[in-house]
Amino acid sequence: MSIKDQARNVAIERLRKLLPQAAPELELLGQNFPHGFTRDSWSRPLPLGAIPTDGDLPLPPEELWAYYCTGAESWLDSGRRDVATMRDELTASGAPIEEMGRVLEVGSASGRMIRHLEDVALGGVEVWGVDIWSTAVLWCQDNLSPRFRFATTTLIPHLPFPDGHFDLIYGGSLFTHIDDLAEAWFLEMHRVLAPGGRLYFSINDHSSVEIFEGRGPADRYEEFYERTGGQAEWESFVRLIQGNADYQRFRRREAYMFTQGKMMRHVMWDTDVLTRRLDWGYKPHSITPMGYGHQSTVLLEAVPFGSGAEGATSAGAGVAASS
Ligand SMILES: C[S@@+](CC[C@H](N)C(=O)[O-])C[C@H]1O[C@@H](n2cnc3c(N)ncnc32)[C@H](O)[C@@H]1O
Repeated sequence: MSIKDQARNVAIERLRKLLPQAAPELELLGQNFPHGFTRDSWSRPLPLGAIPTDGDLPLPPEELWAYYCTGAESWLDSGRRDVATMRDELTASGAPIEEMGRVLEVGSASGRMIRHLEDVALGGVEVWGVDIWSTAVLWCQDNLSPRFRFATTTLIPHLPFPDGHFDLIYGGSLFTHIDDLAEAWFLEMHRVLAPGGRLYFSINDHSSVEIFEGRGPADRYEEFYERTGGQAEWESFVRLIQGNADYQRFRRREAYMFTQGKMMRHVMWDTDVLTRRLDWGYKPHSITPMGYGHQSTVLLEAVPFGSGAEGATSAGAGVAASS
């Protein structure tokens, strides 16, 4: 390492140590996105909105759409489609969601996906959503509860639920933002999953690379643009990662993981390597390219610790790839 790089690292380390005193709110942001943290006070107003019984759940304000889509109709459609894909994959794996007892979405934001599990919740399945974004969680609590239940959590890999509580945990574009703590999150999810429970999540992987590089199915790009907030947003995101040397390393398969950004990370994984590395407690069922817009989806089953170690000796062994 050059003297200049060493000096830079020392300076960054010193600044890091000073930061909690100089800007404590940045530390808070590291734990969650607190509601109204620039204000002295806030309160939760009554009355709570009554949840309509005709299936028309209230729509969150656009600032809580998590930058998905340019219109309410496509925002609703995209969530409906993602949930339909997940339900198909679960059923194909022998675990239909309607037959489950408890379901958890991690990173539920303002409910783009969870709202399409209304029939499941009305059928008696306990459905929870958690997120670090408390403003979105508060909106969900005030507008989608008690049909669904919500809690604000933190970036720390902890889920405030008992061991073995859930039959399914899912996270759409969650592990696209988690890097250092990914393994700790998979461990924590394993703790709260019942034996045989399912873990379903989306990821940017080598199928997404094909799409970023313009080699995806031509008839799907309009949908990819719309989901990410329009063509200009898509192109600026793709330009951002393409300009990164670590992305290029990942693209050439010289790295199995790539992360870019500070507050909002963009993470990519080689799905085969990732599923193989999780064989200590998860058995892969399926990997679905474009199961979640341009992201692939992965369906795993929680197995007792250590029992999968022999089964996955080659990348992606035994994994069904659906389209
Ligand atoms: C790209 S959005 C996806 C929202 C939602 N899953 C969907 O498909 O519409 C990612 C969400 O994950 C949340 N998030 C990121 N890291 C998290 C973590 N460690 N625990 C819980 N939520 C997290 C963010 O606050 C954000 O709401």
